Amino acid sequence: PQVCWLSPEQTAGKQKPYMYTQGQAVLNRSFFPCFDTPSVKFTYSATVKVPEGFTAVMSATSWEKQKDNTFVFKMSQPIPSYLIALVVGDIVSADVGPRSRVWAEPCLIEAAKKEYDGVIEEFLVVGEKLFGPYVWGRYDILFMPPSFPFGGMENPCLTFVTPCLLAGDRSLVDVIIHEISHSWFGNLVTNATWGEFWLNEGFTMYAQRRISTEVYGLPYTCLEAATGRALLRQHMDATGEDHPLNKLRVVIEPGLWGVNPDDTYNETPYEKGYCFVSYLAHLVGNQSKFDAFLQAYVNRFKFQSITADDTLGFFLEYFPELKEKGVDSIPGFEFDRWLNTPGWPPYLPDLSPGQQLMRPADELAELWAADGLNMEAIEAVDITGWRTYQLVYFLDQVLQKSPLPEGNVKRLSKMYPKMSTSQNAELRLRWCQIVLKNNLEAEYSKVKDFLHSQGKQKYTLPLYRAMWGGSEATRALAMETFSATAPQLHVNVQNYVKKILGLGGAE
Ligand code: BES
Ligand code: ZN
Repeated sequence: PQVCWLSPEQTAGKQKPYMYTQGQAVLNRSFFPCFDTPSVKFTYSATVKVPEGFTAVMSATSWEKQKDNTFVFKMSQPIPSYLIALVVGDIVSADVGPRSRVWAEPCLIEAAKKEYDGVIEEFLVVGEKLFGPYVWGRYDILFMPPSFPFGGMENPCLTFVTPCLLAGDRSLVDVIIHEISHSWFGNLVTNATWGEFWLNEGFTMYAQRRISTEVYGLPYTCLEAATGRALLRQHMDATGEDHPLNKLRVVIEPGLWGVNPDDTYNETPYEKGYCFVSYLAHLVGNQSKFDAFLQAYVNRFKFQSITADDTLGFFLEYFPELKEKGVDSIPGFEFDRWLNTPGWPPYLPDLSPGQQLMRPADELAELWAADGLNMEAIEAVDITGWRTYQLVYFLDQVLQKSPLPEGNVKRLSKMYPKMSTSQNAELRLRWCQIVLKNNLEAEYSKVKDFLHSQGKQKYTLPLYRAMWGGSEATRALAMETFSATAPQLHVNVQNYVKKILGLGGAE
C-alpha cells in the first residue's frame, strides 16, 4: 500500500506517470526493509535511477543529480522510518525564499510559486524564535497530484501538500504552518508509539497556533481554532464520545479486535491534544514562560522518541512549584484522565478574542435558520470583506443548524455564490455537507464534482458518511461516485470508503 503508482490521467498535466510514497503511519514497511516503528531513528542515503524526463525528490538534507538520470540523496539527521518519502514525476521547482522552493508539475508551478512566494521564511523565522533552531537545512514544499490523501505531510526538508492549497489567495496557509511546526514537534521530538500520536499532532496544533498568533494575530488564530473545535464536535458526535479512539492514549493491538495505527488519524489527537497542551499552558499562566518550556522540551528530547510520561514528567520537573501543588491530580483534570478517558476535553482554551470575527457569522447563521426569512436583516449584512475562515465558520454554523426550513438553503445558495460556487476546497467541503444535509438535489452534482476533483481523506470520508446516512438518492450518488473515482483514491481511503458503504473494506 506504500508506493502509489499514478497513470498520466491521474496527474494534473495528464502527460506522464507519477509515483509517490506515503510512510505514515505504518506503510513504509512495504517500501523498504526497516524497523517500522517511530521509536527507532536512523540516517539514510539513497540512490535512485529514473527514466529520462523524470525527476526524483526525497525527504533528505542533500540532493544531487548525477549522470544517467541518477539522483543521490542523504539524510544526515536521525529520523524515524515513517518520514522517508520519495516522489518521481515530471516535476519542476521555483524558489520562494532563501531556504525554500516549491515543487510541482510544470502546469502548476506558476500557481504554486504565486501562492507562497516570500511567505515561508517568516513562518520559519517565527518558529525558530519560539522553539529553537531549524535543524533540517531546507524547507521545500511539493504540490502533489489531486489524489494525495492528506492536506499536508511533514516529510523532513520537503513537505508534501495537496494541490487544494492552491486557492490563489494564501487562505489555506495554516496547513503549511502546521507542517512547519512538525519540524520541532514530531520530526525532532517524536511519539515513540502510534498510541500516543497526540504528542506529535496536539503539540503541533499548539505550535501552529502560536506561530499563527505571532504572524496573523490572536483574533484570526482563535477563529481558525474555533473551526478546529467544530470539527472535534462533529467527530465526537459521529463516533460517540465514549469511543475508545476518543482518548489521547490509544491502545494499539494487533489482531482481529486491534486498532490499526492509521485509524488514529481523527480529530481527537489534534484538537483534544491541542486542548491538553493549552491546559498545560493555562496551568503555567504565562505565555512566555510556557514558550520557554516548549523550547526546553524540544532541546531536551530532540532526535529522540518519547511517551507522554516523558513529556509530563519533564513538565513537572521544569515547573517544580506546579509539581508541588499537585497539578497532575486536580479532580476532573487529572493528567491520567486527560490521557486515558475518552470524550470531550475537560478544559477548553478561551477563544473569545476571535469573537469579533465569529459574532457576525453567528448572527448571520441565526438569521438564515429562521422560519420566515428576514431578508432585510440578511441583506444588511455585508460579507464582501469576510476572510475564508469567517465564511468557513459561518457555513459550519449553518450546517449545525441544518436541515434549515424548506427553501432557505436554495435562497442562501443564490444569495452567496461566493460560498456556493467557490473553488476553495474548505468552502466546497462545507457547501457539499450543507447540500446533503438539506437534500438540495439540484446541487448534488457539486458533491460529485468535488469528489472527482481531489481525494483528500478528510474531505472524502465526511461526504460519503453524509451520503450514506441520507436518502435513497444520496446513497445512489455515493455508489456511483465511488465506482467512478475508486481507482484514483489512495488505497487506505478506498478501504475506509468501502467500510462506510458496507462494501467489506478493511477494518
Ligand atoms: N502527519 C499528518 C498527516 C498524517 C497523519 C498522515 C496520520 C498519515 C497518518 C500531517 O501533519 C497533518 O496533520 N495534516 C493535516 C493538516 C492540518 C491539521 C492543518 C491534514 O492533512 O489534514
Ligand atoms: Zn500534523
